[in-house]
Amino acid sequence: MVSEAERTFLGLDLSTQQLKAAVVDNNLQIIHEALVMFDSELPEFRTHGGVLMEKTNPNCITAPTIMWVKALDMLMDKLIVAGVDFSKIAAISGSAQQHGSVYWQRGSEKLLTSLDPGQFLHHQLASSFSISNSPVWMDSSTTKQCQQLEDAVGGADKLAEITGSRAYERFTGSQIAKVSQTRPEAYKNSERISLISSFLCSLLLGKIAPIDISDGSGMNLMDIRTKKWNSSLLEVVGPNLDEKLGDVVPSNTDVGPISSYFVERYSFNPNCRIIACTGDNPASLVGMRLNEGWLAVSLGTSDTVFLWLTEPKVVLNGHILCNPVDPEAYMAMLCFKNGSLTRERIRDACAESNWDIFNQLLDSTPRGNFGNMGLYYDVQEILPFLSGDYRFNKAGDRVTKFTSLEVEVRALIEGQFIAKRAYAEDIGFTLGGKTKILATGGASANKAILQVLADVFNAPVYLQEEAKSAMLGAAYQAKHGFLGEKSDYFQVTSCLPPPRLICEPYGDAADIYGPMVARYRKIVASLLNKC
Ligand code: ADP
Ligand code: XUL
Repeated sequence: MVSEAERTFLGLDLSTQQLKAAVVDNNLQIIHEALVMFDSELPEFRTHGGVLMEKTNPNCITAPTIMWVKALDMLMDKLIVAGVDFSKIAAISGSAQQHGSVYWQRGSEKLLTSLDPGQFLHHQLASSFSISNSPVWMDSSTTKQCQQLEDAVGGADKLAEITGSRAYERFTGSQIAKVSQTRPEAYKNSERISLISSFLCSLLLGKIAPIDISDGSGMNLMDIRTKKWNSSLLEVVGPNLDEKLGDVVPSNTDVGPISSYFVERYSFNPNCRIIACTGDNPASLVGMRLNEGWLAVSLGTSDTVFLWLTEPKVVLNGHILCNPVDPEAYMAMLCFKNGSLTRERIRDACAESNWDIFNQLLDSTPRGNFGNMGLYYDVQEILPFLSGDYRFNKAGDRVTKFTSLEVEVRALIEGQFIAKRAYAEDIGFTLGGKTKILATGGASANKAILQVLADVFNAPVYLQEEAKSAMLGAAYQAKHGFLGEKSDYFQVTSCLPPPRLICEPYGDAADIYGPMVARYRKIVASLLNKC
């Protein structure tokens, strides 16, 4: 038996661009970390930013399912090299990019239960997926199926009331409906359909794992109040879908012991528990120890904004998800597709691909950017539903180019945060004197960017000691789930230090950005009208 002091917890994060892992000790301090980057370490799959874009239809965006399996094989080997003692890991949980779907070929559950510990997972599971490229959250090719889902329950408002969101192209319900309509044989041959989070959990568990309620609420199929599938919606999507999806469980559920494959291959303790895996945004909420009064801003491949809610409400531009910490509570979320990859594009074009130069340019321009404003969308944006670049000068005229590189850089960052503030206000978030922002994700390492965030929201910005909140959320959830239903999450994580204040808004921020938010709303309304 491993003593309480010696036991450790493993958190995994299968995100868009990489698979990460952290082992934490019983006080939730990181003792080992490892990472596999898809583009550079798995070049045979030819992904760009972790995904594949269909040449003839750029709205179709997928990722090879088996690439994720191979990444797990590689990550385990890296953890061995890092010196991890697998026998001390008491529980594992995981986080994954939301909404993507995995289609398990008939017979694959049987295979999962009888894997040969002498061989890699990716060799054994090579033919286990009836759809080899999983549709992911960046896909926006299912407008037709979205309409069908809204029609099935009497409109967008009704769908939002039941499932927490009106129909969104990337949500799993319309994605599965597209597979069932365009590839009926593959749909029929799928004995089970997982979210990416429950797929990761299934690999660890050695059988198909249940979907958790938080990630399940990103599908447009689950009733967020009863936490059950909505039968009218399942019917529209495809035959026998309830059997394919299986049960939903609260996010901190202990779903069983680790697969014997991991016990025999890596010497895990056979008593190591697997705690349900969830989506990266819910996992970030867990990792940030977010509670009421805070607004979280995650700056990763996608940018997201989220907050803790005690009661669900109906929102049309945004999402209400079940809460991963307290199954009786909820979280509100906004998602913007053009996050870090768009910042990288402008960095490459204006700042010699260097964040330091990018920051010098950003800092050399004044708040308000001389009246210039820009909206930049490399791929079809969700909020607002636009693509392409839009630049406006002080006079309000649309221009093709700004006068300097520094104006371009500031226009990008201000435009991204003004959008977040406008949509956060739309879902009822009021910027009061006490508002505090907690930032996370890859770009939260950048203080110049965080200063703009503080100014646009006119609120102080804080960081946790560790920025990788989704991965850490998974590790903390492993401990929370391991200690069982009666354990209080905030008590479990009380050993962690409070967030640190990083920047405060300048005195003139409210006067500058209030009018810019109003101007942004006008610009977007007119662009959407033209579309
Ligand atoms: P994911 O959403 O895939 O988990 P991360 O949250 O790890 O991604 O964020 C990855 C992104 O972080 C990269 O695409 C990169 O653009 C961004 N990033 C890393 N360092 C910086 C920096 N100093 N300034 C701005 N962005 C950064
Ligand atoms: C959230 C969303 C993205 C993905 C990838 O709705 O689509 O944030 O979870 O991070």
